[in-house]
Amino acid sequence: MTPDITVLYDTIRWEEKALLEAGKKKNINIQMLDCKKLSLELDNSIDDYGTVIQRCVSYYRNVHSTAALEGMGVNIINCLQTGILAGNKLYTHMLLKKVGVPTPYATVAFSKESALDALDKQGYPKVIKPTVGSWGRMISKLNDRDAAEGIIENRETMYPIYQIHYLEEFVKRPPRDIRAIMVGDKIVAAIYRNSENWKTNMALGGRAEKCEVTNEMEEICIKAKNAVQGQIVGVDLMESDERGLVVHEVNNTTEYKNTVRVCEVDIPSLMIDYALNSNK
Ligand SMILES: Nc1ncnc2c1ncn2[C@@H]1O[C@H](COP(=O)(O)OP(=O)(O)O)[C@@H](O)[C@H]1O
Ligand SMILES: [Mg+2]
Repeated sequence: MTPDITVLYDTIRWEEKALLEAGKKKNINIQMLDCKKLSLELDNSIDDYGTVIQRCVSYYRNVHSTAALEGMGVNIINCLQTGILAGNKLYTHMLLKKVGVPTPYATVAFSKESALDALDKQGYPKVIKPTVGSWGRMISKLNDRDAAEGIIENRETMYPIYQIHYLEEFVKRPPRDIRAIMVGDKIVAAIYRNSENWKTNMALGGRAEKCEVTNEMEEICIKAKNAVQGQIVGVDLMESDERGLVVHEVNNTTEYKNTVRVCEVDIPSLMIDYALNSNK
């Protein structure tokens, strides 16, 4: 029997277990599929997965398996475009700007010299981010030229993606940011991530607190989600002292464990309902 929903994963986290439980509770046919065990004959078509919820942690596994499945006719959430666009902070930046969503001012430079020149001109502090990455990894605050030189020099020895020097203004804000979980055109729940660390990611010790959703926040998040053609996404926002809400990231395969815990919203159940209706 063809499943209604397939959860495609490479690591089983709380989120994936919760999706399976939510599916079972609804009495639908839900299957878990380990992407690491998967091989696909790309020239065939597939009709035995139902709607796929893409949950792979590895960026490359995620976008490539999405490309393959989508190309073989599978309805997959999020789609390939979202994987590509939201998966890259520079692409996202340009799209957010285009639709008028405030986002931190940023510069891209294509060599160590041009990055340092730009920093000399613009001044410090700045934030340097890999265009592709998550959990705050390899994101550094550049307080002065010495720090910038050291960090950028290191990057020049790494895989080419790290030689795209994406620099953001350091946004002055309260010691927290906001993670808003969107299922379709609705923020189903949002949290503040409080932290002593300037990077507020939960993976780096951020503490979750319920955040009341405002109309302004929801309007911005809908625009941000649509800018990357997303369906189920986690929008990261900061409360800039100067500019109000700014979106710094749209997460394609968002984590939501702590949001469920502090907001007591059954996000996995809402995700399953959305996925079931997405193919109609
Ligand atoms: N421009 C910035 N100014 C100040 N803090 C930032 C800025 N960009 C990111 N941060 C902090 O760093 C965290 C990680 O950045 P983010 O762009 O979301 O990358 P990741 O994909 O690794 O989560 C954010 O949640 C926020 O707390
Ligand atoms: Mg983030």
